[in-house]
Amino acid sequence: MDHSSLSLPLFLLVLVAVSAGAASGINQNRKLGKSRPRRDLLDNGLGRTPQMGWNNYNHFPGKLNEKLIGQTANAMVSTGLAALGYEYINLDDCWAELNRDSQGNLVPNATIFPSGMKALAGYIHSKGLKIGIYGDAGTLTCARTMPGSLGYEEQDANTFASWGIDYLKYDNCHNNGTSPQERYTKMSKALLATGRPIFFSLCEWGQAYPATWAGSVGNSWRTTGDIKDNWGSMISKADQNDAWASYAGPGGWNDPDMLEVGNGNMSTEDYRCHFSLWSLAKAPLILGCDIRSMDNDTFELVSNKEVIAVNQDELGIQGKKVKKTGDLEVWSGPLSGNRVAVVLMNRGLSTANVTAEWSDIGLNSSVIFDARDLWEHSTTTSVQNQLDATLDSHACKMYVLTPH
Ligand SMILES: *[C@@H]1O[C@H](CO)[C@@H](O)[C@H](O)[C@H]1NC(C)=O
Ligand SMILES: *[C@@H]1O[C@H](CO)[C@@H](O)[C@H](O)[C@H]1NC(C)=O
Ligand SMILES: *[C@@H]1O[C@H](CO)[C@@H](O)[C@H](O)[C@H]1NC(C)=O
Ligand SMILES: *[C@@H]1O[C@H](CO)[C@@H](O)[C@H](O)[C@H]1NC(C)=O
Ligand SMILES: *[C@@H]1O[C@H](CO)[C@@H](O)[C@H](O)[C@H]1NC(C)=O
Ligand SMILES: *[C@@H]1O[C@H](CO)[C@@H](O)[C@H](O)[C@H]1NC(C)=O
Repeated sequence: MDHSSLSLPLFLLVLVAVSAGAASGINQNRKLGKSRPRRDLLDNGLGRTPQMGWNNYNHFPGKLNEKLIGQTANAMVSTGLAALGYEYINLDDCWAELNRDSQGNLVPNATIFPSGMKALAGYIHSKGLKIGIYGDAGTLTCARTMPGSLGYEEQDANTFASWGIDYLKYDNCHNNGTSPQERYTKMSKALLATGRPIFFSLCEWGQAYPATWAGSVGNSWRTTGDIKDNWGSMISKADQNDAWASYAGPGGWNDPDMLEVGNGNMSTEDYRCHFSLWSLAKAPLILGCDIRSMDNDTFELVSNKEVIAVNQDELGIQGKKVKKTGDLEVWSGPLSGNRVAVVLMNRGLSTANVTAEWSDIGLNSSVIFDARDLWEHSTTTSVQNQLDATLDSHACKMYVLTPH
C-alpha cells in the first residue's frame, strides 16, 4: 500500500444551494413530492443525500488487492473528486478466504490483503475517506469465492465494525429461496446493533420490489439487475428505476446500479446522459472506472459540480421521466429553492429537437425562469414557456431553472 499522503484532511464540499427568492411558479398541485408515502426510515443517520464513492466491480470484477484500493483512495483525493463529495471506497466480491476461521469469522484473503482489513480501513480513514465492504445474504457470494453471511449476520456485522468498515453492499446470491425481507432485515438490525454507523446498501436486484419495503431496512436498494457498459443496458436501468421514484427520499434511495462512466464502451455523449440521469434520479453516484487513469472527458463528466449538486440537493426528490415522444424524452424534478432540474434527451439514432414546455415539467406557463445549462456552464435569462434543444443521437442537455 502506498502510504504517501496529502497534508490536508478532506471534508465534503458544502454544496451551496442557490436561494431562489421570488414567487416559485411551481404548480402546487403537481404530484412530485406529494405522493411519497410515509417511510419508516432506517434510523442510522446516513444517506441524507445519495451516497457517492467508488467500487471496483464494474472495472475490476473479482480483481481486488490492497495496492489497488490504496492507490484508488490516493487518486480520489489527488484528483479533487473527494472534495466534490465522493467519499466511499468500496470493495466488491472476492476479498475473503473461502472458509471462515475456527471461530467462524470471515478472513480476508491474505495474498491480496496482507495488511488486513483494519489496517486498510485505517489508511482510507487517514485520507479523509470511508471504506465499504461486500457481503451476501446467502450461503455463498456470487463469485463463490467467499462465504455468505446468512446465519452469521451478527458475527459478520461485528467483524465489519471491529475493522472500522463504514458501508456494506449486501448481495443476494445463493439465498436458499428464503424471504429477502427477513434476510436483509436481519443484517440491518445486526449492523445497527454494532453501534457503528454503517451505510447499508441492499443489492437484491429489485426482485421482491425492495422500494416498497427497504426504506426501513437500508439506505439504498437496487431496483435492477447488473448494469453493463453499453447504452441499451444503461438506459434500461434508468427506465426500470424510474418506476419507483416515489419511494426515494433522504435516508433511502433507489439504486439503478453503479456508474459505467469512463469504462470505455460508450461514447462521451452516452456517458453524459448516464451521469445526467443518475444525478437527476438521486441515484447513488458510485464511480466504476479506474480513477487512477481517467481521461479528461471522464473527469469532466464526473467532476461537474453543478450536476453533482442536483444529485445532492437537500430536498431529495427523485426526478422522473415526465414526457416521451417516440425517442425524445424530458426528465424533471423539483429542487430546493423553488428550482427545477430538467434533462432533455434524444434516445434515437438521428438528430432531433427536444422540447420541454412548462406544463410538461409542472410549471405555471406564465412564470419566467433563468435557465442554467449545467454542461455548457452558461445561463440564459428570462426564458418563457419552454426549453428546447437540437440534440444529436444519444445526446442530453441538463438544466436548472430558477424563477427569474
Ligand atoms: C486469494 O487471492 C489469490 C490471489 O489473487 C487468489 O489466487 C486466490 O484464489 C484467492 N482466494 C480466494 C478464496 O478467492
Ligand atoms: C439452506 O438450505 C439447505 C438445504 O435446504 C439447508 O440444509 C441449509 O441449512 C440452509 N442454510 C441456511 C443458512 O439456511
Ligand atoms: C459494448 O457495446 C456494444 C454495443 O452497444 C455491445 O454490444 C457490447 O455488449 C458492449 N460490451 C459490454 C462489455 O457491455
Ligand atoms: C487534459 O487536460 C489537461 C488539463 O486541462 C491538459 O493539459 C491536457 O492536455 C489534456 N489532455 C488531453 C489528452 O486532452
Ligand atoms: C429543429 O428546429 C429548428 C428551428 O425550429 C429547425 O430549423 C430544425 O430543422 C429542426 N431540426 C430538426 C432535426 O428537426
Ligand atoms: C400562474 O401564475 C399567474 C401569475 O402569477 C397566476 O395569476 C395564475 O393563477 C397561475 N396559474 C396557475 C394555474 O397556477
